[in-house]
Formats: sequence, structure tokens, C-alpha cells
Amino acid sequence: MRILVINGPNLNMLGIREKEIYGTETYDDLVKYILRYQEIYNSQIEIFQYNGEGQIIDKIQEAYFMKVDAIIINPGAYTHYSYAIRDALLAVNIRTIEVHLSDISKRDEFRKHSVITDVCEKSFFGKKFHSYGEAIDYLHQ
Ligand code: DQA
Repeated sequence: MRILVINGPNLNMLGIREKEIYGTETYDDLVKYILRYQEIYNSQIEIFQYNGEGQIIDKIQEAYFMKVDAIIINPGAYTHYSYAIRDALLAVNIRTIEVHLSDISKRDEFRKHSVITDVCEKSFFGKKFHSYGEAIDYLHQ
């Protein structure tokens, strides 16, 4: 299975940003955590991080032409208001799993709503890195 993992803004700041929420592990640690699953499932996993909305949309569109089997996406704060990312996911019609490190249902009011949840097959959140692990496990079920 070929999986594209797309991480949005400020996820490159893991280990520095709001440690009480996101933990002390860094973005590199996250990448290593995810890549371990390649051997477990003998899958191909490519991981990208972008701060810009347009870059995320470009990568989602590219996924269509790359013929990936699934997208795992953590759009960061764009989760809560980017209709453009939502439209891009609808356009490519690829199996997509939404993930978040934190439990967005128990934080600020504006984080409780995700504009992509209903265009994603499944959402995993609140388990830090394990949210990604759960998404990968789910895709291989
Ligand atoms: C996040 C949650 C978002 O609300 C926030 O803006 C992020 C990270 C998460 O993984 O918990 O940047 O997507």
C-alpha cells in the first residue's frame, strides 16, 4: 500500500510548541515513529509537512497523479476553516484519514469543529503520535 502523510502548519515545531498539549517529542521523532510502520506492513509511506495552505492543496492534487492508495492528513489549524483543503480532498476522491495529536473535541471552542471530518473515511485524535499509528493500522485492516 502506498500512503501519503500530510502534516500542516506548525507541526514542524513539535517539541518546542505548547509541550503540555503536544508533548516533548520532535517532528523528526514523529517521522521516525511513522516510518517504523513501513516494515510492519511492508508499505510505502511518504511524509510531508507544509506551513502553507496552497502547498498542502498542491500535494493533495499530486497524490491523485501519484496514484497513492490513501492519504493521512493532519491539517493543523486549517482543519477548522480551510474549505479549500476540504475541496481538494473531494476533488481527488482518495481514501483519507484525518488525524490530530490532541483531542480537538476537548480544547478551545473553535477547535471542536473540523471542516474535513465528513469528507474523511475516519478520524483519529487525542493519542499524540499513536493517532497516526491508529490511522495506519486502520488502513491495513
Ligand atoms: C492539531 C490540532 C489543531 O487544532 C492545531 O491547530 C494544530 C494541531 C493536532 O494535531 O492536535 O496545529 O491538528
